[in-house]
Amino acid sequence: MNLGKKIGWGIIGCGNIANKFASDLALIDDAELVAVASRSMDRASEFAQQHNSEKAYDSYDELFSDANVDVVYIATPHNSHAELSIKAMEHGKHVLCEKPLALNKNEALAMIETSKRTNRFFMEGLWTRFNPSLIAIKERIDNGEIGEVEYIHADFSFVLTSTINSRTLALSLGGGALLDIGIYPTFLAYLFLGIPKKIIAKSIFHKETKCDIETSMHFKYENAKADLYCSFTSDSSKKQALIRGTKGDIFINSRWHVPPSFMLVKNSKKKTFELPPLGLGFSHEILECHNCLRANKIESEFWSHQNSLDLISILDTVREQVDLKYPQEK
Ligand SMILES: NC(=O)c1ccc[n+]([C@@H]2O[C@H](COP(=O)([O-])OP(=O)(O)OC[C@H]3O[C@@H](n4cnc5c(N)ncnc54)[C@H](OP(=O)(O)O)[C@@H]3O)[C@@H](O)[C@H]2O)c1
Repeated sequence: MNLGKKIGWGIIGCGNIANKFASDLALIDDAELVAVASRSMDRASEFAQQHNSEKAYDSYDELFSDANVDVVYIATPHNSHAELSIKAMEHGKHVLCEKPLALNKNEALAMIETSKRTNRFFMEGLWTRFNPSLIAIKERIDNGEIGEVEYIHADFSFVLTSTINSRTLALSLGGGALLDIGIYPTFLAYLFLGIPKKIIAKSIFHKETKCDIETSMHFKYENAKADLYCSFTSDSSKKQALIRGTKGDIFINSRWHVPPSFMLVKNSKKKTFELPPLGLGFSHEILECHNCLRANKIESEFWSHQNSLDLISILDTVREQVDLKYPQEK
C-alpha cells in the first residue's frame, strides 16, 4: 500500500471513544479522516459531519473496501476486536485496535498471525504507553534514576452510572472492570516489572450481568510486588499511581492513565515534570502509527505485538484466578 502525503484513516464504531479519538486525529497534520462506519447510517452521517469525514457508511465492511482508507481505528466493544481487526487486515488495511486487544490470548494470537501474514501494521491502542510523561518516566527508570523498582501501586476506579444494558456491564461484549479499566494498572506493573511470578486476585461480580465490577490484584515478582485495583463501584480520589524504587519514588499525577505530569521524590527532594499530552492524549499513539507506517513496520517498538500478548495473558491469568469467563469461552 502506497501512502500519500496524508494518511487516510477510517473509524469503525461511532461511540464514545471514537469521538474523542477523532478530535485528536484532527490535530495531526498528515492525518485525514476519510471514512467512518456505524451500524446505523444516521450515526455515521452525524459523526462524519461532526468530524469532517468525506465518507459515511452504515456497514463496517464497506469501510474495509474503501481504497482511500489506509488504516482503520477499531472503536467497538472488546468482543468484536479480533474479528474486525482480522477482517480489516485481510482487506489490506493497517489497524489500530482499541484496548483490550482482544478478549483473550487465543484471539490476540490470531490477530498477530494475520498482521504477519498480510504484512499489515497492527497495534493495540494502549494510549498510556505513548503519553509524554510515561515515555519520560520509562526513560528515567531504565536509566536507573530510582534504582530497582520494588513496588507499584495503581488503581483505576470510578462510580459507573451506566445502566445494566451498557457495553461496560455486558459480559457478552467483554464488559466488566478488569478489561475496561483494570487493564491500566496491569499495564503499569507489566511495563516496569514484567510478567509476575505469582498473581493473587479477587473479584466482586454484578448480580445480574455477572461481569466483574471490582477486581483486586496482587502481583508478586522475584524482588518486587504490585498492588492493583479496578472498580466501577468506588471512586479513587487521588487517581495517582506510585512507582517505588530502591533510590526514589515516582508519582504519576492524576489522572495517571493520561497524566499531565509526574513527580520525582529522591533524597528528600521533590521535583515535578510537566508534560501535558497533545489534545486528549490519543495524538501520541496516532503519531506512533504514522511513524511505523512511514517506516514500513508492522508493529511498534514501544508497544509491540509481544507486549500486547503478554498483557492479555496476564489478564487471562487474573480471570482464571477469579473464575471469570466470557460466554464466547464457555
Ligand atoms: N483508550 C481509552 O481511553 C478508551 C476509553 C473508553 C473505551 N475504550 C475502548 O474502546 C472500545 C469502545 O468503547 P466505548 O466506550 O467507545 O463504547 P461505546 O460508547 O459503547 O461505543 C462502542 C461502539 O461500538 C459499536 N458497536 C458495534 N457492535 C456493538 C455492540 N454489539 N454493542 C454496542 N456497540 C457496538 C457502536 O457503534 P455503531 O453503532 O456506531 O457501529 C458503539 O457506539 C472498548 O473496547 C473500550 O475498551 C478505550
